[in-house]
Amino acid sequence: MTAELDAPASGTTDDSDVVLEAEGVSKHFPVRRTGRDVVKRTTHHVHAVDDVSFALRRGHVTAMVGESGSGKSTVARVMAQLHRQTAGTIRLHGEPVDVRGGRRFRAYCRAVQMVFQDPFASLNPIHTVRYHLTRALRIHGNAGRTRAEREAALEDLLASVQLTPARNYLDKFPHELSGGQRQRVAIARALAADPEVLLADEPVSMLDVSIRLGVLNLLRDLKDRLRLAILYITHDIASARYFADDIQVMYAGQVVEGGDSETVTQSPAHPYTRLLVESAPDPDRLTGRTDAPEDSAQGEPPSLISPPSGCRFHPRCPFAMDRCSVASPPRLEVGDQPGHWAACWLFDTPSVEAAS
Ligand SMILES: Nc1ncnc2c1ncn2[C@@H]1O[C@H](COP(=O)(O)OP(=O)(O)OP(=O)(O)O)[C@@H](O)[C@H]1O
Ligand code: SF4
Ligand SMILES: [Mg+2]
Repeated sequence: MTAELDAPASGTTDDSDVVLEAEGVSKHFPVRRTGRDVVKRTTHHVHAVDDVSFALRRGHVTAMVGESGSGKSTVARVMAQLHRQTAGTIRLHGEPVDVRGGRRFRAYCRAVQMVFQDPFASLNPIHTVRYHLTRALRIHGNAGRTRAEREAALEDLLASVQLTPARNYLDKFPHELSGGQRQRVAIARALAADPEVLLADEPVSMLDVSIRLGVLNLLRDLKDRLRLAILYITHDIASARYFADDIQVMYAGQVVEGGDSETVTQSPAHPYTRLLVESAPDPDRLTGRTDAPEDSAQGEPPSLISPPSGCRFHPRCPFAMDRCSVASPPRLEVGDQPGHWAACWLFDTPSVEAAS
């Protein structure tokens, strides 16, 4: 019999390794009101993220995969507390993050660092690498007490992102570096806080294909060496399989499937994940499925201002049943591998048997 899962677990490893957790996290943005809204006194909201739960573990990469507009960046921004969540709880080592400002919040911001998609935009063009890294070290109290200690900290940071010798980079401006080097500096700046968690929002998507692998390998090396918990956000499920230990699939603001990355990419369960895998640029890297639906999903992602009722994928789903537009499916065990789940009524075995 298929079981319903209610824990936010994202994989199969030991819970003592959990560093950061989201439980039932939502983020809704108010939409600018039209004249009619003012008259009717209504405010519409974009349901960018709804009821999302997952856990990030020490020394572990979790990928969040989904199409454009599915809410991936909003999840990262909420986890970094750049946006306050509308609902739900975020916990660092089991402690809820419920206060903004103050010592505890500063400690949270140190522990949870973000790496953005565009390294050129995230570095100030009028400042050198030395300025960016020194400032980050000072803000987080890691600059040492003497000039020699500060220089040593700068050298260590650049060495940790494989930019050596440091003297070749410290006095350069962002425009004097390649895209890959800029992203390495942005990663070094995040490391200046001595974080436990890196939230990497499409960290390689703006880099030349030829250097993407180098930056992903660097992140993997940091994960292993510093035991970092990494959230890797991407729309490229092939890179998620390569880089991540487990995968969470987002659709229209919700997580619809989760499990270890090999299982999710080789045996995708949710019809949306199957669509993602089938439309990946190099399907041979992912799956040799022969039972793909003949009538694959059609249509556009839905409006997040008034998302579809029930399962948000039902207007596009080739397997949709009557109940799919009425009731929202919970996380259901797929049953092939431990920890593999899908929010899809197809895995509600007793009801499917009863309906047939
Ligand atoms: N600050 C904001 N104000 C209003 N709406 C927002 C805001 N930030 C994001 N949104 C909306 O929330 C939804 C999710 O956006 P988000 O950027 O999180 O998606 P994404 O999955 O990261 O997309 P992409 O792959 O294109 O980066 C979108 O409809 C977007 O327009
Ligand atoms: S719940 Fe129904 S509509 Fe949603 S993915 Fe599953 S079969 Fe398709
Ligand atoms: Mg994004």
